Amino acid sequence: MNKLIIALVLGAVSLGAQAADVKRGEELTKKYACASCHGADFNKPSDPSYPKLAGQHADYITHALMAYKRGGDKANGRNNPIMAGFAKPLTNQDMADIGAYLSSLPSQLVVSK
Ligand code: HEC
Repeated sequence: MNKLIIALVLGAVSLGAQAADVKRGEELTKKYACASCHGADFNKPSDPSYPKLAGQHADYITHALMAYKRGGDKANGRNNPIMAGFAKPLTNQDMADIGAYLSSLPSQLVVSK
């Protein structure tokens, strides 16, 4: 009986959102060649208008990707033709993993006060 309860609890836990996976996030950024624009180490964008992503807050990155996927015509969406295409195939888990990976990288971003 106790074993059944434990199995049910474990089952319920594994159905919930998975913790973000840094390694998987790294693999996804390689698969989609995100660094081709956002630059080596995600710190040297190939164009000055492209954002640096290394060390950005994980939540911010995840929400930005969700917003591109949602599109600029929806509430809280972002309109960018380039990023819309890259965000489209990503699942919520993919976006969380990518956020975790990018936020783990050494950052050049600064907070000015
Ligand atoms: C062809 C060039 C290109 C590629 C490849 C690319 N991006 Fe982008 N990315 C951009 C541009 C340009 C912007 C700025 C768009 C805007 O003004 O909203 C951007 C913005 C972003 C932002 C928002 C950053 C912020 O500070 O708000 C995130 C997050 C992001 N990209 C992640 C990714 C990820 C993850 C990938 C790979 C799946 C990727 N990008 C691939 C060009 C690219």
